[in-house]
Amino acid sequence: MADGSLYGIGVGPGDPELITLKGLRLLHACPVLAYPAPERGESLARRIVAPHLTGHQTEIAIRMPLSVERFPALEVYDRAAGELGGHLTAGRDVAVLCLGDPFFYGSFMYLFARLAAAHRIVVVPGVTSVGAAAAVAGLPLVAGNDTLAVIPASLPDAEIERRLAACDAAAIVKLGRHFARVRDLLGRLHLIHRTRYIEHATMHDERQMALPDVAPASVPYFSLLLVKRGGST
Ligand SMILES: C[S@@+](CC[C@H](N)C(=O)[O-])C[C@H]1O[C@@H](n2cnc3c(N)ncnc32)[C@H](O)[C@@H]1O
Repeated sequence: MADGSLYGIGVGPGDPELITLKGLRLLHACPVLAYPAPERGESLARRIVAPHLTGHQTEIAIRMPLSVERFPALEVYDRAAGELGGHLTAGRDVAVLCLGDPFFYGSFMYLFARLAAAHRIVVVPGVTSVGAAAAVAGLPLVAGNDTLAVIPASLPDAEIERRLAACDAAAIVKLGRHFARVRDLLGRLHLIHRTRYIEHATMHDERQMALPDVAPASVPYFSLLLVKRGGST
């Protein structure tokens, strides 16, 4: 029997209509559906595609520990790769859901690294959070010779400052608990009024506001900042 294929499907940033036609077709065609999920509770990627599901698939939640110290996250991917590899070897196609785009900070990359040598993998790109945030904020990001930086908020201040200095616009992602520190840094760099805060872009509970209006304690993980330093738009 021929091996199955693994499909890494970008499901987009939140609005179920922002999955691609190809992603939707493959989602329906695979007998096995896997997705990242918190240790307890609902998978966001699964929630996004829920309106498209028929209930006839074997589902595998890849549960990540709340704290990576409790047991190494890499072990989770080793185990998930083993389980998905079993389905592939048995001839079953597997769809793995990924929020946004699989190769843009997507956890799918860890499965890709473990399974690509032995199995056929097809990656279906998705709408990224950065594209979605710019769209909902009505903020053209870059044009002409402008450069865009994507900066994880988890980097130290000096590194964020260095990367901001080298671009015309930036998306600062993985905000969550780093919000207050990054806001203070943007204040010192006189960029507060050139920055837009967007959380849960394109989801039903999307919110966006100017930086001074954001309460740090309320900032969720799925939020980002768009910074326009200059540029042609
Ligand atoms: C692990 S990365 C995953 C990125 C995703 N693969 C993508 O293509 O956008 C998670 C970070 O992306 C950003 N993010 C993802 N979805 C978002 C959304 N709907 N609204 C705002 N930020 C989002 C947040 O900064 C979050 O901390």
